[in-house]
Amino acid sequence: MDIKQLLSKMTLEQKLAQMSQFNAICLMPDSQGGVTGPARSLDLTESELAAVGSTLNFIGAEEMIKIQDMHLAQDPLKIPLLFMQDVVHGYRTIYPIPLAMGATFDPDLMQECASMAAKESAVAGVNVTFGPMVDLCRDARWGRNMESTGEDPYLNCLMSAAQVKGFQGDMTGKYDIAACVKHFAAYGGAEAGRDYNTVDVSERNLRDYYFPAYKAAVDAGVEMVMTSFNLINGVPSSGNKWLVDGVLRKEWGFDKIVISDYNAFREMKVHGYCESDKDCAYRAIEGGSDIEMMSPCYLKHIPALIEEGKVSMEQIDKAVLRILELKNKMGLFENPYRSASVEEQNKFFLCDEHRDICRKAAEKAAVLLKNDGVLPLCDKTKSIAVIGPFANVGMIGFWSCAGKEEEATTVLQGIKKLVPNAKVEYAEGCDKDDVATPCDEMIAKAVEVAKNASVAVLCLGEHRTMAGEGNSRSCIGISEAQKTLIKKVKEVCDKVVVVLFNGRPLVITDFMDDANAILTMWQPGTEGGSACANLLFGKTNFEGRLPMSFPYTVGQCPIYYNNMRTGRPLKRDFKTSGYTSRYMDAPNAPLFPFGYGLSYTNFEISEPQISATSLKRGGAIKVSATVKNTGKEDGVALVQMYINDCVASLVRPVKEMKGFEKVSLRAGEEKTVEFTITEDMLIFWSANGKFETENGDFAVFVGLDASENRSVKFTLCD
Ligand code: GLC
Repeated sequence: MDIKQLLSKMTLEQKLAQMSQFNAICLMPDSQGGVTGPARSLDLTESELAAVGSTLNFIGAEEMIKIQDMHLAQDPLKIPLLFMQDVVHGYRTIYPIPLAMGATFDPDLMQECASMAAKESAVAGVNVTFGPMVDLCRDARWGRNMESTGEDPYLNCLMSAAQVKGFQGDMTGKYDIAACVKHFAAYGGAEAGRDYNTVDVSERNLRDYYFPAYKAAVDAGVEMVMTSFNLINGVPSSGNKWLVDGVLRKEWGFDKIVISDYNAFREMKVHGYCESDKDCAYRAIEGGSDIEMMSPCYLKHIPALIEEGKVSMEQIDKAVLRILELKNKMGLFENPYRSASVEEQNKFFLCDEHRDICRKAAEKAAVLLKNDGVLPLCDKTKSIAVIGPFANVGMIGFWSCAGKEEEATTVLQGIKKLVPNAKVEYAEGCDKDDVATPCDEMIAKAVEVAKNASVAVLCLGEHRTMAGEGNSRSCIGISEAQKTLIKKVKEVCDKVVVVLFNGRPLVITDFMDDANAILTMWQPGTEGGSACANLLFGKTNFEGRLPMSFPYTVGQCPIYYNNMRTGRPLKRDFKTSGYTSRYMDAPNAPLFPFGYGLSYTNFEISEPQISATSLKRGGAIKVSATVKNTGKEDGVALVQMYINDCVASLVRPVKEMKGFEKVSLRAGEEKTVEFTITEDMLIFWSANGKFETENGDFAVFVGLDASENRSVKFTLCD
């Protein structure tokens, strides 16, 4: 399609309609064939609706084809709609939430999962997914931690690029869909971990921590960027010219579509940044945004702004061409249904191949936090009590698109299937919600089941509705009912395994001592139950490591490993360290650090060795360490390399991850892992307001989690 020629035929209203996106329900006529309620509440006219450029929140190929047909019948220019959807961790076959995928430290697996999701999405009529979400997360109270891959920029960059490649392929494949990286920028920096709260971070914090993962998506060829609800330097991202036009477009060279978040243009009035919808339209187009999601500011007010000479037709044409370009690239003018196919939906949804991918991901994402030897369970275990509000529920997580809880394997099902000869008894034990108070009858049933069992598996934590968008929590422990359940079960059963389901790091100090073993499955998706059973019985070994620090107490939040030393660092026991940066009633360190995770074997790692103590600019040196499997089982270690810039023109964090390697080791085996250090790893946003390196001393750590404090030094020199 000659999109410039098409553009020349378009009226201003048709151009502005291309730049507008409304829910599918707005596009489907009501019973009288008229504009539906939601569209009417947006004051949309039939001609505006007839020319709308894209839609979201539809379900399945049939609905997509119906809406596209209806749209093409009424659009005078027959410009096909773009269909967009939040496919965040699967379409119908759901893999673990992205925070869990971060725990795999496996970008290839991340890409494989995203590619699977793209295939199911494409046949369901999805052209664009609103993913990956790559917001850096440091505060466990925030509900949307579940959607990101955690607190580390290095890991987030790898996972960001992997998801873009998985979703998009090379954008020519039948099952490739466009990705939309979000939420640009720093949405995860919400103060107090409260969703949609204000964000106020310095430019260097943006440059060194929050920006990299969005840029990794841009460098990987992402087709779209979604701006965030929050402020950046006092200006909402939706209308932030420095952020969008300056950084994203001019500095990073991104010349594709920028879309707002849901009704975010209009929310610039609520922020107190804009006076009117017209002002919102002006700030947004000036900022560089092309598509307005679920509000009509462009449609209703750009014409007047053009009349007043405040906005040029050239600005509008640029935005429309970006939109038409994506439609052209996806072949929608030739085939407006693209890969939508009911037949292929039925073939791919929940197929064995996709379930296998999800099970593998759930197994690799799980993190073993404590184990006194009670795990792995023996196949010959005679009686097992499976207890808890999440023991017989499909834990598919928030943003699970077309996924259904009832299609997911539960822990109870997984255990029963794996050990069919064992006596497996179930009790719910308490209600699911986070304010559940103990119910004596439910507790009594659980105690009855537990006292007859040789081991009790307690499935606790958060339901999928207790994390995700709008679901921040001020307390991040388990409910009182769940705490009571553990205590009562422990009174009658001396082997208690706690399986956590969570969309964020949880505070687990309350019950650490009562449990013989504790693991997190996060929100593991369609095959979570079978994966959990395989892990509990040692059919597969744990290799997941924490992508976010688990706080000792919620009072420590936000807490993350790559923090600044301060002028008065805590050097010993917090109780006796006056006049240092400390709490009187809690340690500074998290309960479990970034990169932490146990396995069914043990690993030891040597002091790091370095090939040279000076690194010349442009050169390379190597750091290595020997990791040994000192246990009785084969396992996978995650060897992690961190660097600290000891002195710089802006204070640098105590350490930053710059590399990791998964190492499979048989029992007793050892391997030397080597990392190459080059100057580009030392680049940071300096006091000169640019990315550069500075000569001086650096410390290199090689360990099995971020708490490693043995290091070797080198100097960067000319
Ligand atoms: C929501 C979310 C965003 C999502 C969009 C469309 O408010 O913030 O992540 O993609 O609306 O559902």
